[in-house]
Amino acid sequence: MNNQDIINEIRRKNDIVDIIGEKIPLEKRGKNYFGVCPFHDDTNPSMSVSREKQIYTCFSCHATGNVFNFLMDYEHKDFSEVLSDLAKRVGITLNGVSTKKINSKYEDWYNIYDLCVKYYQNNLYSKEGEIARNYLKKRCISDDVIREFQIGYSLKDRDSLTKLLTMKGYSFDLLNKVGITTNDYDIYHSRLMFPLHDLSGKVIGFSGRIITDSKQNKYLNTKETELFKKGNLLYHYHIAKDAARVKKSVIIMEGFMDIIRASTIDVRNTVATMGTALTREHIKEIKRLSNNIILCFDGDEAGVKATISAGELFASENIETKVIVLKDGDDPDTYILKNGKDAFVSLINNAIYFSDFKIKNLSNNRNFNSSEEKANYIHEVLEEASKIDDEIRVEIILKDLAKKFEIGYNTLEKSFKELVNIKRVKKEEFIIPKTASKVKKDKYQKASYSVIYYMLNKQEIIDRVEEEHLVFPTGALRALESEIVYFYHKYGFINEADFYTYLTPKVELVNLLTEVLQMDLDNVLTETELFDYFKVIREYNYKKTIENLERKIKNEIDPVMQIKYAEEIRKLRIGEN
Ligand code: UTP
Ligand code: MN
Repeated sequence: MNNQDIINEIRRKNDIVDIIGEKIPLEKRGKNYFGVCPFHDDTNPSMSVSREKQIYTCFSCHATGNVFNFLMDYEHKDFSEVLSDLAKRVGITLNGVSTKKINSKYEDWYNIYDLCVKYYQNNLYSKEGEIARNYLKKRCISDDVIREFQIGYSLKDRDSLTKLLTMKGYSFDLLNKVGITTNDYDIYHSRLMFPLHDLSGKVIGFSGRIITDSKQNKYLNTKETELFKKGNLLYHYHIAKDAARVKKSVIIMEGFMDIIRASTIDVRNTVATMGTALTREHIKEIKRLSNNIILCFDGDEAGVKATISAGELFASENIETKVIVLKDGDDPDTYILKNGKDAFVSLINNAIYFSDFKIKNLSNNRNFNSSEEKANYIHEVLEEASKIDDEIRVEIILKDLAKKFEIGYNTLEKSFKELVNIKRVKKEEFIIPKTASKVKKDKYQKASYSVIYYMLNKQEIIDRVEEEHLVFPTGALRALESEIVYFYHKYGFINEADFYTYLTPKVELVNLLTEVLQMDLDNVLTETELFDYFKVIREYNYKKTIENLERKIKNEIDPVMQIKYAEEIRKLRIGEN
């Protein structure tokens, strides 16, 4: 068997309904299965999975593909990793199957980081590492935790790591580039070393913590490299992925010490940024884990500020987060150390809505001596309440407010409704009329897409297209057609799922294929329909050819040539050509 045969075999043996069904609940409806799409924020079952075609499609975000594409996206893995996972699953050995490794460019990088992890870990248990071991003991970090988080230690001397890595054949150039050395010397000295993983779990950098009082930065992170981008990285994401799905929530914390501590009490659905504010990129990844997002930042003023800006950012994406508020001076790490698992779990279960948190926060450091101050406050609360999409919660807030300031409920409700109305009118002014998200296909596009669709679903159509020398209207369609013909002749069969694997490196064609397959046409294709499709596509060519000739006539100065072109047009029109 050649590579492609083995790849197809692995795909066939891993039924897409089973594989996706292990990750998200699927429900059978008609001949397809439906579930909540994990690739965009949703609660409706907009993803359909077809056992017959071995393809999934989301009607909302248009994610689509075969079992490989699903796992690559879902687990943030590259093709070769997914292939080997699925091969193992069905007991196929991959000996010698070369899958063009997309990431081979970074293989050296990953090897270097892995060597560093081992090296730092060894140091921790060396004589020089004693001071670090004592530090960890003092912070109640057990050996199990050290192992789980691969915590290590960097040595005091100038270049022991650099020497080790250059002896292994890595160039100074590369070591400087990956952020392990600078000017050919070790970057990290006498720091606790925490490996940082990318979303799929590969080490792509480190954070080093000082362990003695010193004027240096507490944590020193790997510089931004081609792999390490602070604005994208979420600490612990690769572990949180599975935990979040089990717990149906994800908790965002500020520091990775908080995450490490939480894991000691079996709370692993946690992620943290690398000390930066949350970015939209972060939010996109977090949304994939769960819709139930809990912010648990430090209890100090900075933590409150961070909570508000994170909550607002999520709100701008229509997600209302929940919030855990800690006492000033605490962070999740110290809270858990002092109060233990049950107390923290109860904090999680009693997390309050972000809007309630904000409303509570509005009354901080305020005295309500003047009526003006009271009214300002009430208006701010109403403003917050107007963002809440839950009438019951709004009513509770209004009632609390009425009680607190001894105002009639009806008065408050009237102001509230006015506010909501003003906002609605404003919003409507700004809303761009919703055009259908997909541009309506013209008849030529519709005919071409249909023919391509049937080429993939009925192999005899491939022969027909070839026999008739059909020429598709656009370059992309022609490229897709020739890929189909190529695949079919090479392997003697074709189906959507295997063709997807084959086409994956060609992103533009994959997008086109996705559009084509979204048509989900009838299984039956009559000879008349096929004839009509062919006719329309030919008509397009005919129209274009005539247009071309007419343009030529216009630009031509030689009357003899003009006559020749005109004659061609005449022949075309009467169907002689
Ligand atoms: P914190 O100062 O809250 O860290 O910074 P922490 O988790 O409580 O650490 P310990 O308990 O003192 O050891 C939160 C995050 O900000 C980043 C780190 O990612 C840290 O986890 N940070 C902080 C830096 O990158 N550099 C710094 O100097 C400090
Ligand atoms: Mn801390």
